Amino acid sequence: MVEEKKSKRNWHPLFDRRPPTKHLTADAPLQGKLGRCITVASQKGGVGKTTTAVNLAAGIGLAGSKALLLDLDPQANATSGVGESKYTFASQAQRSHSRYLERGKNSAFLEALEMEAGLLPFILETEFENLWAFPSFQELSDLQLIGSLQSKYINKWKFHLEVLRKHFDFILMDCPPSLGGIPTLALSSSDAVMIPVQCEYYAMEGLSQILPVIEDLQATSRPDLKIAGLLLTMYASELELANEVVGEIQKYFPRLVYRTIIPRDVALAESASHGLPIFYYQPLSRGAWSYLELTREVLGHE
Ligand SMILES: Nc1ncnc2c1ncn2[C@@H]1O[C@H](COP(=O)(O)OP(=O)(O)OP(=O)(O)O)[C@@H](O)[C@H]1O
Ligand SMILES: [Mg+2]
Repeated sequence: MVEEKKSKRNWHPLFDRRPPTKHLTADAPLQGKLGRCITVASQKGGVGKTTTAVNLAAGIGLAGSKALLLDLDPQANATSGVGESKYTFASQAQRSHSRYLERGKNSAFLEALEMEAGLLPFILETEFENLWAFPSFQELSDLQLIGSLQSKYINKWKFHLEVLRKHFDFILMDCPPSLGGIPTLALSSSDAVMIPVQCEYYAMEGLSQILPVIEDLQATSRPDLKIAGLLLTMYASELELANEVVGEIQKYFPRLVYRTIIPRDVALAESASHGLPIFYYQPLSRGAWSYLELTREVLGHE
């Protein structure tokens, strides 16, 4: 199975040099690095959050930086997008700490926060260059329902995330479509938020809901939280409406919107169903080129 997948690997021709694989070990974090943490969020469903988190993380990995894709959505699409299973979390938990076996997998995440090793034992090295994944897990849906986590867990989460930052150059968190507990948890521990905006009719309305939430966080608990950018997604040049939306967003948010626009490209949907980032599925597709351009734009901002 693994062999079959590896043979599908295709290096993007623009990345001319294959970077060396670095292995994650708890005792050898990247020297002096504080990983940048970006949350991909929008309360709107199906706007390209997961596609962006997966392909940007893979692009950053291919460009030679160490990337962690952290899946905070119980739908586990980012997890399957890199060919992993959400059940891996439970089995990793069971392997790492036998007491999880006794209590059942539902408390694994909260218990992991209590452990000294924190989230590190749950991180998987994917088969893709410089890309690691923290798989989604079942109990996230319970946390989502609760709406907000107890503050003691939030503080522990932040503590363990600080530890992870020392191991990665970039951490990308994929969120469920909501403005509830999980995105708030992610935003409370991120440097910046990236907001995918689908080029369709309700784009502006969607932004008018999420931007005040971010402003609120900036005014209260997270003064340092930045908007990394608004990313226009699923652009179809033949649609007049899509062009109007692009024009409007660029006019109202000239300094916030990324130059890169992600086109509608069926290869992106197909690559997700194969559990492969686009660079390893169809490296010459329009989707691959656009995520390559986004990777460069994001890295260029650092
Ligand atoms: N640029 C694109 N062109 C074509 N299809 C795309 C594109 N981006 C995403 N898709 C497809 O559209 C669907 C929704 O995308 P995605 O899962 O990334 O959105 P999402 O915002 O994460 O959704 P959710 O809110 O449910 O988590 C998926 O089937 C995905 O493969
Ligand atoms: Mg998603």
